[in-house]
This record gives sequence, structure tokens and C-alpha cells, in this order.
Amino acid sequence: MKIVFATGNSGKLREASEILGGGFELVTPAQMGITDDVEETGLTLKANSIIKAEHIWKSCGCSCFADDTGLEVNALNGAPGVYSARYAGVGRDFGKNIDKVLSELAVLRAECSMAEAVGLKMNRYSRRARFRSVITLILDGKELFFEGTLEGSIAYYRSGNGGFGYDPVFMPDEYPGKTLADISEEEKNAISHRGKALRAMAAFLNSVA
Ligand code: IMP
Repeated sequence: MKIVFATGNSGKLREASEILGGGFELVTPAQMGITDDVEETGLTLKANSIIKAEHIWKSCGCSCFADDTGLEVNALNGAPGVYSARYAGVGRDFGKNIDKVLSELAVLRAECSMAEAVGLKMNRYSRRARFRSVITLILDGKELFFEGTLEGSIAYYRSGNGGFGYDPVFMPDEYPGKTLADISEEEKNAISHRGKALRAMAAFLNSVA
């Protein structure tokens, strides 16, 4: 089945091709001649995935899907969340986004230590976090949604050369002490937020084919 994946992110495209397997031919917007970017103005991951998928549907009327992914850190009240791509500013600078998450957690840790030292009670400092992916699939004009999450925690420093985005600082519960950038792409795809959402979408598509 030929389907347009609304992404310009080569890491996401590679992962999705591997997860969906040979039964699906993934086409990029650029390959369909769609080169204009759409602004992700939604306030939720679902809203942004709808914006991206509808942009493709309106441009070519073909079966398509888009995902929007966010990193939610408990101690940061769910941030960066829907702002994960531009947390440190307008540019999609992964390095700076990671630096901002690490430095905010370091400040919180220092505040908690100081409060404890003087006997103040504060919420327990935690590095718990999760990735959440929402996919919007548009098939014959109908919209369907699929979601996947991956639980883990934020490392104190970067580790690993694989993956992309926040992978070097995200330690999934399934691999204690390792980040997503430390494990193989196959291992990441088997447990990841996007893997879960994509497999749910593939199961649906196979059931209606
Ligand atoms: P978007 O879904 O392309 O808007 O991605 C939001 C942000 O999350 C970007 O900074 C991505 O690099 C990052 N991101 C998305 N998926 C992943 C992932 O699987 N691992 C690490 N970072 C990711």
C-alpha cells in the first residue's frame, strides 16, 4: 500500500519504514511535489498531527498520515510536551533543546537539596518522563487516530550515538542505565512510542485492506 508520511525528518522516516515493513510504500511530501511547510500551531500533539496530515490531504488527496511526538517530563509539569521541537527557541535545535531540559532539571535538583537541607518539604524531585506519539491517518477523507507511549527517565548526561532528537538523554524503563541512543534501532522500534502507534495503525490498515 502506498501512503504519504507527512514528515521531513529522516530519522522518523527510517523508523517508520522499518516498523511498517514491506507491505507499505512510504512516500514523502517532497516526492509528491509538496514542499511548503505547515505551521504547527496546535496546543496538543493530536491537534498538530491533524494539521500536518490535513495539509497533505488538501494538497494531493492521497492516503496519508502524520505523527506528532512530545517528551513529557514530570518534574517540568509535562514540558516540553507539544513544544518539544522548539523548546529552546524557534529553531529546531536538538542540542539546545536537550541542554534546556538538563539545565532545568539541574536547577530543580539544587532547589530540592537546599530545601531539604533547611527542613522544608517539597515534592520529591524525579526525572520520570515519557514520549508520547499521536498519529492522524487520513484514508478516503476519514480521520483516524493512533497513540503510543514509552515510559522512562531523563539521564544526567548524554549517552550513545544512535537515534535522533532527545534519544541521547532518554532512558527507557526496558533498558536500565541505557539511553535510546545507546540501543539499536531495532531495539528502539520494538518498544518505542512511535513503534506502538505505527503498529496499531498498520493492524488497522491490514484489517480493512
Ligand atoms: P515532531 O513530532 O517532529 O514535532 O517532534 C517533536 C520533537 O521531539 C523534535 O524535537 C523531535 O526531534 C523529538 N522527537 C520526536 N520523536 C522522537 C524520538 O523518537 N526520540 C527522540 N526525540 C524525538
